Amino acid sequence: MYIGRLVLKNNVFLSPMAGITDLPFRTIVREFGCGLAFTEMVSANGLLRGMGKTGRYLDSSSADRPLGVQLFGSDPETVAEAAKIAAEMGADLLDMNMGCPVKKVVKTGSGVALMREPQRAGAILRAARSASDLPMTVKIRAGWRQCEINALEIGRIAEECGVDAVILHPRTADQGFGGKSDWGLIADLKGQLRIPVIGSGDIRYPVDAARMFLETGCDGIMVGRGALGNPWIIRNILSHLAGGDIHPPSLAEREGVIRRHLEMAIDYYGEEVGTRDFRKHLLWYTKGLRGGAQFRQAAGRISDRASVWEALQEYFQALTESAGREIRS
Ligand SMILES: Cc1cc2nc3c(=O)[nH]c(=O)nc-3n(C[C@H](O)[C@H](O)[C@H](O)COP(=O)(O)O)c2cc1C
Repeated sequence: MYIGRLVLKNNVFLSPMAGITDLPFRTIVREFGCGLAFTEMVSANGLLRGMGKTGRYLDSSSADRPLGVQLFGSDPETVAEAAKIAAEMGADLLDMNMGCPVKKVVKTGSGVALMREPQRAGAILRAARSASDLPMTVKIRAGWRQCEINALEIGRIAEECGVDAVILHPRTADQGFGGKSDWGLIADLKGQLRIPVIGSGDIRYPVDAARMFLETGCDGIMVGRGALGNPWIIRNILSHLAGGDIHPPSLAEREGVIRRHLEMAIDYYGEEVGTRDFRKHLLWYTKGLRGGAQFRQAAGRISDRASVWEALQEYFQALTESAGREIRS
């Protein structure tokens, strides 16, 4: 698949997720073959002013390629300057966030608030387009609310502004992450645009991925929450799309991935922050597994590498010994 001049090895991507899609997590998900991954959303203003840890969101590695850097902002010039910085810092693709419904973001006129201001949205996209020749996408929602659905209008504007692909998460802002995403809207957008359309929303199993392609005709898909504690979903989606089998990971593989991910998190953040931040991943990785509830209770209190290492050892040993293998694909 192509996005602008960027050649991708496949069309199954990892969604940007704030607080989650950091370098360690992206690296793990890429081991399972995803064609493109994104940073979490990065404040254009923060990047320009070198605020706090903003620049760290762009940390990457040779294994973490190609990398989409997602920017949010409400001022065309600021976003354009941030686009230049992101390009200098090594982004392979720039994505403009016009879908974030979080209050803190919306009240600054950024994220999904831009869908209510098509002219400003267009100005931002034009400014970013002229600031950088990197492949560029925009990630949008269905619209602000049910009676203000305008994904097609914003999609058309994006195409006119020279954006290379549109990513659509077809929920309204006021839906948040509840209810169902309206895949019909992805099909409508695909019917209208010449540039590629990428669908996002509610892909939990490989069959969902196949169904999204079939029902919408989209060019690519994105997996977000379905990859939490479940990075092998990408391998299984790719296999299923190619007519192959779906293999849940063995216990040994699952344990190995968790340990590798933990090590990367500790290398990246340091032991204290790395282990603390990893708790959420431990909860996701063990969801639905036998004895998971007990492990998760204990894991919630762990704050050093040796204790996590030991807890994992005990837990997986017990799991291996018990015949139960309740494993998600
Ligand atoms: C915790 C969380 C953080 C998210 N952060 C971002 C973000 O930074 N930028 C963005 O465009 N979308 C963000 N999203 C939306 C996802 O990229 C995706 O569009 C949405 O979750 C629907 O896909 P899913 O059902 O596969 O999760 C976030 C979603 C979640 C659950």
